[in-house]
Amino acid sequence: MSTLASGQVPDRAREIVVRPSTENDVPAMLAIYTHHVGRGVGDLGLEPTAPEPLQDDDIKRRRKNMLRRRLPHLVAERSGEVVGYAYAVPFRKRPAYRYAVKHSIYVRQDQLHSGIGRMLLPALIEACTGAGFRQMFAYVDAENVPSQNLHEAFGFRRVGLLEGVGYKFGRWTDSLLMQRALGPGAAEPPDARGTSHTGV
Ligand SMILES: CC(C)(COP(=O)(O)OP(=O)(O)OC[C@H]1O[C@@H](n2cnc3c(N)ncnc32)[C@H](O)[C@@H]1OP(=O)(O)O)[C@@H](O)C(=O)NCCC(=O)NCCS
Repeated sequence: MSTLASGQVPDRAREIVVRPSTENDVPAMLAIYTHHVGRGVGDLGLEPTAPEPLQDDDIKRRRKNMLRRRLPHLVAERSGEVVGYAYAVPFRKRPAYRYAVKHSIYVRQDQLHSGIGRMLLPALIEACTGAGFRQMFAYVDAENVPSQNLHEAFGFRRVGLLEGVGYKFGRWTDSLLMQRALGPGAAEPPDARGTSHTGV
C-alpha cells in the first residue's frame, strides 16, 4: 500500500509494512488497545476495571462489521509483528452522513514515536478516499498532544472543542474534533457510484 506522506518517509519507517488486517491480527490489536485504554487514551478511555472491557470477540465482530461495509481496517507490521492498527467507521449511521467517516489509530506502546502513525494514517486516508468518502473525522482527547500533532501533520484541522464530554479516572475531559476533506471534499457532488457504506 502506498502512502500520501507529507514530506519524505523517514529511514526508520522504511521497514514498516501497512496492510489490511486479518483475523489472526486480532490478539495483537487487542493487546495494543487494552494497554492504551488502561492509561485513559483512545476513544473509550475506560478504566481497566470498568464494566464490559473490550474482548477478543468484540474486536473480531467490529472488524467483520467494518469489512462487510468495506470500511478500511489496517495494521502496521514491523519485523513481522503487528505494531499498530487503524480503522474507519461511519461518522454517523444515518444515510445523509454516508460520505463521512471517523477513525481510530493505535500504536504499540514500545514503538511510540518511531514513525508508525506516520505510515498508518496516510494509508487510512488513502483507503477512505479510494472508497469514495469525502470527509474524515477524529475525536482526540484535548490532552493527547502526540495524536493532535500527528493529525495536523496529515491535514486535519481542529474544528471543534467538546467540553467535559468524557469522564475517566475521576475527572471530566475535553475532546477536540479534527477534520480533513478527502479528494474533492464538498467542492463536488459525490461520485455517482457512491461509497461502500450505504448507511443503515
Ligand atoms: C497518536 C499515535 C497514534 C501517534 O503514532 P506514532 O507512531 O507514535 O507517531 P509517529 O512516530 O509516526 O509520529 C508522527 C508525528 O506525530 C507526532 N508525535 C508522535 N509522538 C509524539 C510525541 N510523543 N509528542 C509530540 N508529538 C508526537 C509528531 O508530529 C510526529 O512527527 P515527528 O516524527 O516529525 O515528530 C500514538 O502516539 C498512539 O498510538 N498513542 C496512543 C493511542 C492514541 O492516543 N491514539 C489516538 C487516539 S485519537
